[in-house]
Amino acid sequence: MRGADLDEVIAIERKVFSAPWSRSLYRDELAITDTRRYLVASEHRRVVGYVGLMMILDEAHVTTIAVDSAHQGRGIGKLLLYRVLLDAIALGATCATLEVRVSNTAAQALYHQFGFVPAGIRKNYYADVNEDGLVMWAYGLGEEASRHRLEKVRASLEERALLVRADDPRGLPR
Ligand SMILES: CC(C)(COP(=O)(O)OP(=O)(O)OC[C@H]1O[C@@H](n2cnc3c(N)ncnc32)[C@H](O)[C@@H]1OP(=O)(O)O)[C@@H](O)C(=O)NCCC(=O)NCCS
Repeated sequence: MRGADLDEVIAIERKVFSAPWSRSLYRDELAITDTRRYLVASEHRRVVGYVGLMMILDEAHVTTIAVDSAHQGRGIGKLLLYRVLLDAIALGATCATLEVRVSNTAAQALYHQFGFVPAGIRKNYYADVNEDGLVMWAYGLGEEASRHRLEKVRASLEERALLVRADDPRGLPR
């Protein structure tokens, strides 16, 4: 994600979140280069989704993930999470965490495929919609079971022809 992507990112943000992040918050995040990774998925040069990551020691905190409503259900969310977790492992993450609305079962099903399991509830975490947050953690990143899960995800992305070409400089590492 670059500054030039922010118009499109903010447009998606406003469509899919009840409490969208501001442009300045994204700018601040993008300015931190050592502990943050923000990636966009684009199609025909248009941003269709994005994901964010904050590293705290060996913990990867997924700060945001969204896919444009018109492009949901095509595997783009899975591709983004796959790609950013590879980055997290490369940055030394051994575990990952995120919060999700308790009612957001679609997102929870996505996270489950990456080994995220429920770890607790943050009461009224999403105060704007008066909803609790489910805290999820994935442990053992980089270990055998986690690698196996990522391989399965990779295979499902390949089946849907969602992986970009290996010779694309922005392509996924094999
Ligand atoms: C959650 C979100 C990022 C998922 O992205 P997506 O591109 O729509 O999801 P994908 O097509 O990659 O689906 C990945 C997995 O999620 C689950 N999933 C996606 N949509 C689902 C739905 N409507 N019902 C149930 N499960 C669903 C499935 O497990 C799916 O795996 P499968 O394709 O192997 O069945 C996207 O729906 C979104 O932006 N939602 C609004 C914002 C949001 O809720 N962000 C998460 C905040 S914590």
